[in-house]
Amino acid sequence: MKLLVIGSGGREHAVVRALKKNPKVSEIHVLPGNGGIAQDAICADVAATDVKGAVNYAREHGIDYAVVTPDDPLCLGMADALADAGIPAFGPFKRAAEIEGSKVFAKNLMKKYGIPTAAYEVFEDVDSALRYVESCAIPVVVKADGLALGKGVVVAMSREEAAGAVKNAMVNRAFGESGAKLVIEEYLEGPEISVLSFTDGNTLVPMVSSMDHKRALDGDRGLNTGGMGAVAPNPYYTPEVAQECMEKIFLPTMRAMNAEGRPFRGCLYFGLMLTKDGPKVIEYNCRFGDPETQAVLPLLETDLLDIMEAVTAGRLAEVEVKWADKYSCCLVLASGGYPKGYKKGCEIRGLVNGQLPGGEAEVFHAGTKELPGGGLVTNGGRVLGLSVTAPTLREAVGRAYAAAGKISFEDMHYRRDIGARALAAIEEG
Ligand code: AMP
Ligand code: GLY
Repeated sequence: MKLLVIGSGGREHAVVRALKKNPKVSEIHVLPGNGGIAQDAICADVAATDVKGAVNYAREHGIDYAVVTPDDPLCLGMADALADAGIPAFGPFKRAAEIEGSKVFAKNLMKKYGIPTAAYEVFEDVDSALRYVESCAIPVVVKADGLALGKGVVVAMSREEAAGAVKNAMVNRAFGESGAKLVIEEYLEGPEISVLSFTDGNTLVPMVSSMDHKRALDGDRGLNTGGMGAVAPNPYYTPEVAQECMEKIFLPTMRAMNAEGRPFRGCLYFGLMLTKDGPKVIEYNCRFGDPETQAVLPLLETDLLDIMEAVTAGRLAEVEVKWADKYSCCLVLASGGYPKGYKKGCEIRGLVNGQLPGGEAEVFHAGTKELPGGGLVTNGGRVLGLSVTAPTLREAVGRAYAAAGKISFEDMHYRRDIGARALAAIEEG
């Protein structure tokens, strides 16, 4: 079977390595991939957002099944275009991807169907948004409606900051059309939990829960990033919380999408905050999270391709999804300066064929590039993810950090406290 995977991050590398385990798979093509994915698959220079290019590529290469994981191609209708060309794909159709593509859509959906989330207002003009932040409760959260490379959310600790965020999105158009509308919402407090789920619109199977670490610096300081590391499972996600989420959030969301005529088939990601009033939705994503996927998939015991094909065919109820009873840690090694400016093209030392020769961790590549003559260099903000599974979280975290000591590149930066909060939560019981 020939597979096509769209994307170029650590998440896609983790997906590729999981798909490769299926003996039916003869070839995996990745558009565009990266220096490390190229060790595991055939990479070709077609952008992840090039819907036509990807469909043509899939036709030319006799692709049997495609997996679309990034938000932009899904929101552009990549799964629809592949289906129209007769190529089944994992990933929601455009109308369902809207759950991530428009925060206004997602918030209105939650309000209409009584799904717990932060109270909010929607603004379409800058004056009323500015007037609102003059008198609303502070802190307040300002969110651009559309996709913004993860930069469209500002947790404003003062009125000035909130007004600045409004102007940046609506006047400066820092996120282009994505800032034409804004959601301004209530600030919630509590531990954050990520739950990725498989759903075919009839059945919803949550994956092992996880905890992302979004800020660039230790102690959750610094700028928001795509994610500096993840651990799984998330100790705050107790069986009681899981049951409440299933009843009040997961199944109601799946049913709401059906009721709206937008059945969701793929990976539906729930970004949750465990507030004192119970779990609330912070965000939905129409795809696997990055770096959560690099922590979660190594715990999956059932074959990923079998699950994905069942999702696409609407027969997820027939599959038993099993997880290892272990802990997992993915530590991200980033370029110094990320998420702002950083250098590219720095030589990465310590890897052989993209992996650690001692096998201390599984290395998932994000911003890496293979030089024509061989050798690997940095090519992005998040460079590598080091994933380890172990019987305890302490061991998984310790081994991921030990593995980081074997790799180096100029200005390499990583957080020293990935998993620390989760470990404290486990130890507090
Ligand atoms: P997002 O880009 O939607 O993932 O949001 C980025 C981060 O902003 C989230 O992971 C939260 O830490 C924070 N955030 C988003 N919405 C809220 C909220 N209503 N209250 C507090 N923090 C929030
Ligand atoms: N790690 C958060 C996300 O993928 O959006």
